[in-house]
Amino acid sequence: MTSLFVTFEGPEGAGKSTQVGRLASRLKGVGAAHLVTREPGGTALGSRVREVLLDPALDIDPLPEFLLYSASRAQLVREVIRPALSRGEVVLCDRYADSSRAYQGSGRGLETSLLETVTREATGDLVPDLTVLLDLDPAVGLARAASRGQPDRLERADLTFHTHVREGFLALAAREPGRFLVLDATRAPDVLEEDIWAAVGERLTVQTG
Ligand code: TYD
Repeated sequence: MTSLFVTFEGPEGAGKSTQVGRLASRLKGVGAAHLVTREPGGTALGSRVREVLLDPALDIDPLPEFLLYSASRAQLVREVIRPALSRGEVVLCDRYADSSRAYQGSGRGLETSLLETVTREATGDLVPDLTVLLDLDPAVGLARAASRGQPDRLERADLTFHTHVREGFLALAAREPGRFLVLDATRAPDVLEEDIWAAVGERLTVQTG
């Protein structure tokens, strides 16, 4: 068995959850033990924190916002992700630390040194083996997200914020091309699924030697 930590990132409405589901089905098809989780959430604490973070009725400053995401992440890594990787499973996580870098860093303007210090503690330095970035024009993504129902607190932020978030994700990917797979989220879901499966297959093969 081979453990592999795969995260999915991107702006609102990019189709991450669809691709997480499709990759999970593929892994099931080849009998690979896997676990699907998401941020914020994935634990009892994370689910409560998620309600707070997405509540449109709350005004949350950038620093406490980041610390709440980090609290959810710290619990998820310890309670769910690390144990699954130790059991040799493939872990698929819908959003992870790169979302904080993009949303709270590039979007809200928090300093990189602060983000990195807290993130190192929260994750215990656990870095994904592969990060799939589904890139999308935020205007398109927000329209897609809006068609799904009432916008949450982050979806209500303006287009400039979401444009910074997208640029932040792309800058992160450019800095770590070995970890990131950047895909154009406007392509057909079947095509995206194939590309993601190929990248995961490569890494599983490398790890199994
Ligand atoms: P969610 O409904 O999971 O959005 P999506 O379906 O787009 O993933 O809500 C998560 C929201 O929280 C989303 O707007 C991105 C934001 N977020 C941050 O701002 N920072 C973070 O560290 C994480 C994990 C998410």
